[in-house]
Amino acid sequence: MDFTGKRVLITGGSRGIGKACAEAFAKRGAKVAINYVRNEDAARATLNGLPGKGHILAQADISDPSAIEGLITDTVTGLGGLDIVVNNAGVSQRHPINTVSYEEWQDSWDRILAVNLRAPANVIYWATQHFLKNGGGRIVNVSSRGAFRGEPEMPA
Ligand SMILES: NC(=O)c1ccc[n+]([C@@H]2O[C@H](COP(=O)([O-])OP(=O)(O)OC[C@H]3O[C@@H](n4cnc5c(N)ncnc54)[C@H](OP(=O)(O)O)[C@@H]3O)[C@@H](O)[C@H]2O)c1
Repeated sequence: MDFTGKRVLITGGSRGIGKACAEAFAKRGAKVAINYVRNEDAARATLNGLPGKGHILAQADISDPSAIEGLITDTVTGLGGLDIVVNNAGVSQRHPINTVSYEEWQDSWDRILAVNLRAPANVIYWATQHFLKNGGGRIVNVSSRGAFRGEPEMPA
């Protein structure tokens, strides 16, 4: 696949699967914006390891609904446009119903839904506002086997 000239935002691109996506896109000619929340060292190391030129860092806590419009604007400014978004950032924390307190149960559901469900929806909203005015784009949502079979120790 050839992505020469394409501009790609990868949420949670500093580590793990997002880092692998960043490397794969950059290797095929794309310019990549690496979003991360707090691990700047990892994000910078990933950025410095990418082949090609013009890649950027795009720090934002995507669980904060008010941070998303700025993330898209910063990406468009930094990359000179936006063609593809990979909604990859995610968190997991164990919260088995037979051991956690009600407070921990609430905390897990709030945190996981904010990052893994609501944040991608908000990224989709603001990326689409850009795509509608600029000839379209593509959105890839990274999911989990947990969506198909459930995760007993991480029901959220
Ligand atoms: N690994 C698996 O076995 C597995 C299985 C099923 C599904 N998945 C899904 O695959 C995706 C990637 O998983 P992974 O294991 O590669 O993740 P990971 O290695 O734990 O990395 C998580 C990434 O998300 C970022 N992130 C977390 N919270 C964020 C927030 N509030 N705002 C912005 N960025 C945030 C982290 O940034 P910082 O570096 O700044 O912390 C990091 O870049 C997730 O959606 C996950 O649900 C993974």
